[in-house]
Amino acid sequence: MVAEEENCGNREERVRKLVEAGYETVAREIIACIRCPLHESAIKRVIGKGSCNPKVFFIGEAPGESENKSGIPFYGRAGKKLDQMVEYMGLSEEDWFVTNTVKCRPPGNRKPRVQEIECCKPFLIAQITLLNPKLIILLGNTAEKSFCPERKLEWGVPVEHEGRTILKLYHPAALIYTASKIEVQRGFIDKNRELWQ
Ligand code: URA
Repeated sequence: MVAEEENCGNREERVRKLVEAGYETVAREIIACIRCPLHESAIKRVIGKGSCNPKVFFIGEAPGESENKSGIPFYGRAGKKLDQMVEYMGLSEEDWFVTNTVKCRPPGNRKPRVQEIECCKPFLIAQITLLNPKLIILLGNTAEKSFCPERKLEWGVPVEHEGRTILKLYHPAALIYTASKIEVQRGFIDKNRELWQ
């Protein structure tokens, strides 16, 4: 086993301990984590934001520059698009939570690597287990690759996965770069409203 894999530890065991310890410990462990190299350049760890009893749990990709400075997920331009999406969905503040596949910013805004995602995954799974949402929305392909690498989901088509419903939608940043996706995303949302209403 290479050193990096050793640092990631046994996933099931880490999740079990985190869930047993509770959400505040998960947050503390995220802040203290040095398991992968991303911590070396991170300013703030980006744990997550939103309701502690969400119907909908969004998974983004990774913190960007403004998230790294603020410690808040989706704080920058993509955050404005996420807010518009959430408003279109008709969700109120108590209805949703958002986090990312990794809690530290990858340098230069590159995508997180498989090993980094793997090391951070116990935090994500523990957050999901503790917050217990009925619906998980994967924002883009990186979220899908992290959360269910063995599956290939269709955009906007919900599936059952380990006792929850998962739905893959466009990442809010994709709506900034390709405005035509806004209408398509609205169509996905309209088709799936019963999942959160
Ligand atoms: N993009 C993401 O995927 N996550 C953030 O927190 C910000 C931008």
